[in-house]
Amino acid sequence: MARVTFEQTSFDFKSGKSLLQQLEQQGHCIPNRCRKGNCHSCLLEVQSGCVSEECQSGLSSAQILAKRFLACRCFNVMQDLVVRMPSGVLHRGEVMEKYRQSDGQIFVKLVTDVDDWQGEAYISLVVNEQVYDVTICNAPMMGIIDLKIPQDLESLQRWLTDHCRIGRALDFTGPHLRPG
Ligand code: FES
Repeated sequence: MARVTFEQTSFDFKSGKSLLQQLEQQGHCIPNRCRKGNCHSCLLEVQSGCVSEECQSGLSSAQILAKRFLACRCFNVMQDLVVRMPSGVLHRGEVMEKYRQSDGQIFVKLVTDVDDWQGEAYISLVVNEQVYDVTICNAPMMGIIDLKIPQDLESLQRWLTDHCRIGRALDFTGPHLRPG
């Protein structure tokens, strides 16, 4: 049976479940949205071993060359595999402004190290080991994005209200395109 290692933990890969599911069962927090190979938010990188072509379907040749693959499409691991979050995937933003709007949404302005924002994209905020997909509602200038946190992201709203101060750093992945 093949073993998978991610962030210093190892486990036996069980066929029938995706690597994404199995990493989540091990307590890892992997950004994801569509869970079927469309959004590319679950991108991981092979450090040693190899993955099937199916896990790399839809990726660019540069991504394939960099041994990146989609954890949600990885159902088969034939030999021991060491994987990691690709470098440059996790970004950091700093909260510049936040307030609750009259419609109950929370507005957050983030200054970030990313400057190639695309329309209709979203980011995956990592807060307290939870991942929240949040749509970018505006990118007013290079390196700055506006987010609106809807009421249904209740725990994120609570955290932003009770614990997040101006200047607080937030980790995120993306921008991701909406799944087709
Ligand atoms: S969650 Fe894997 S590609 Fe969308």
